[in-house]
Amino acid sequence: MTDDGAMADALARLEDLRAGAIATISGTDSSAGLEEARIRFTGKKSDLTAIMRVMGTLSPEDRKTLGAAANSVKGAIEQALESRGAELRARELEDRLERERLDVTLPGTPYAIGYRHPAMRTMRELIRIFEQMGYSVYEGPEVEWDLYNFQLLNFPPDHPSRDLQDTFYVTDDMLLRTQTSPGQLRIMKEQRPPIRSIVPGMVYRDEAEDATHLSEFFQIEGLAVDTNITLGDLKGTLTEVVQRFFGRERGVRFRPHYFPFTEPSAEIDISCFACGGAGCRSCGGEGWLELGGAGMVHPVVLQNGGIDPDEYSGFAFGIGPDRFTMMRGHITDVRLLRHGDLRFLRQFN
Ligand code: PHE
Repeated sequence: MTDDGAMADALARLEDLRAGAIATISGTDSSAGLEEARIRFTGKKSDLTAIMRVMGTLSPEDRKTLGAAANSVKGAIEQALESRGAELRARELEDRLERERLDVTLPGTPYAIGYRHPAMRTMRELIRIFEQMGYSVYEGPEVEWDLYNFQLLNFPPDHPSRDLQDTFYVTDDMLLRTQTSPGQLRIMKEQRPPIRSIVPGMVYRDEAEDATHLSEFFQIEGLAVDTNITLGDLKGTLTEVVQRFFGRERGVRFRPHYFPFTEPSAEIDISCFACGGAGCRSCGGEGWLELGGAGMVHPVVLQNGGIDPDEYSGFAFGIGPDRFTMMRGHITDVRLLRHGDLRFLRQFN
């Protein structure tokens, strides 16, 4: 038996459902709202499911008709959900692109990149120059025995620089090295000629600091020991180093001097960066600036290092890299190199 009333009613409700659902879906404004609509119109507890409950009371013929009508309504609703969904997704994407607009042509946030301190750059460059000339690098301790810093270097017991006044003693026989020259002895005790070595590092003196003096400053010691090493080798070597660092137009001058551990001894001057040797205010009218000391290794020092002075000779030098930095950077007060003021240091980047 069939229930015509129920059938007609079901068909009418399906039609209402279709119209209502499609209107609701096309009026939905967000993906979340659309999802609610999907559950409401096609889910297990939907009106569609409720309408289909009459199925059991219908004739096979009507069931088929109602089934087909229901499928068509369901298809239409799914179609509407699908196309509204696509619209909303496109719109939401557009909104997001607008909101999160990124101008890839804007300059980025720069990273603060550090750079080497000008004094360290000088150290590395000078070490490199010596390495290229066949020297190896030896590092001695900054806290040194009085024995190495003075005694084995032939300093007389009453030499003024051994005074507590100029020197930082740690104990009676240990001190902050006042020079890199103790490295000479350490090298000679470890290496046999031919020796070509440098000792770069910090040295300490109780100085009254001024525009050209620091109490902690860099030195690079050099030592060459071999058969037939001459003063000419020393002069040629230092001239080459200075010219590789400053350029070929820089002249080097050797001035007689005295050190207990070299004989003969000299002080090394470089022609003034400002006037080129004519004499000006930067060099006190001299035309020359002092870079360090040098000389032929004293026979007693060779002996103290276990090297036979009758068979070998050697030269040694001690240069002041901070002075190199000053002269290259036209820095008139060396203390600026230790103050860590970035406004000053950045100029040498
Ligand atoms: N050690 C000396 C100084 O500090 C420099 C020097 C080194 C002189 C080697 C001669 C040879 O003044």
